[in-house]
Amino acid sequence: MTQPVAPRGVGQTAVAVAKFRAMESKRPNRLFHDPFAKHFVAAAGPIRRGPGGGKKKRSTWRTLLQLLRPANYAHYRAMPHFIAVRTRFFDDFLRAATTECQQVVILAAGLDTRAYRLDLPSDVRVFEIDLPEVLTFKESVVARQQADADCQRTAVPVDLRSDWPTALVKAGFQLDQPTAWTAEGLLVYLSESECAQLLERISKLSAPGSRLALGHQDRSTVQQQVSNPLAGAAQTLYRSGLSQDPVEWLASYGWRADARRAAQYARDYGRNLTADVGSGWLVTAERE
Ligand SMILES: C[S@@+](CC[C@H](N)C(=O)[O-])C[C@H]1O[C@@H](n2cnc3c(N)ncnc32)[C@H](O)[C@@H]1O
Repeated sequence: MTQPVAPRGVGQTAVAVAKFRAMESKRPNRLFHDPFAKHFVAAAGPIRRGPGGGKKKRSTWRTLLQLLRPANYAHYRAMPHFIAVRTRFFDDFLRAATTECQQVVILAAGLDTRAYRLDLPSDVRVFEIDLPEVLTFKESVVARQQADADCQRTAVPVDLRSDWPTALVKAGFQLDQPTAWTAEGLLVYLSESECAQLLERISKLSAPGSRLALGHQDRSTVQQQVSNPLAGAAQTLYRSGLSQDPVEWLASYGWRADARRAAQYARDYGRNLTADVGSGWLVTAERE
């Protein structure tokens, strides 16, 4: 069995998400249960700072004081709840969407284990796209748990800034089938033009009846988070945010969208998300 090698750079952000999912899975009032999350965290070891997973930033009295500022303190306390709400939102979307769509594409799947834990029907085909080192790490950890997906899972290791549609079609994606697409925790790591290209490509590959769920942040929130001296390893890699209403943005690609703030979904799930992360967008859309 291959020894898991933890991803570096942007791939590390998937480990951070797994860490929050492991925390949520232990709560008595949890919004989901991800039995794999703690195994990813254990196999990855400590998360290293910096884009290359390199230099550890030293804490100074200045950074400690920053942490005590109410907005920063609220941000760090809210983050695990934000990831829990976001995870549940995408779980609910996929459960519902796979009653109509037998083809699923999880863009930037990271350490998402929906193919294993959502009991998706056996005729559903799930394509997981992420960077090769992330998918290799994921598969080596899942193999140790001797887990099998109920649905048909296919890993597509490819950079989403390259010609991923060709890789997807080669992996068996059917152009004439309605597809449920998800982009969770991805768009902030792409530039605005890369996001536009991604949306164009998704739209071209979407047969009538296709669905889409995505998460994004307003540009102003992203700018604030990036310039915060306490920006975490993930925030230092943020590259874009939304400068227009998500419903209008998606309409320009031919999607009819419903966009709500994460804080609104949090309330529906019985959580309170008052910090900046609560303003994140969670969007579902149907192909027009
Ligand atoms: C915050 S994680 C979210 C992972 C997953 N969606 C989840 O919620 O568990 C971001 C993911 O985006 C992936 N990613 C970022 N840029 C990418 C790119 N250009 N091509 C493929 N994957 C990318 C990273 O490797 C990482 O797995």
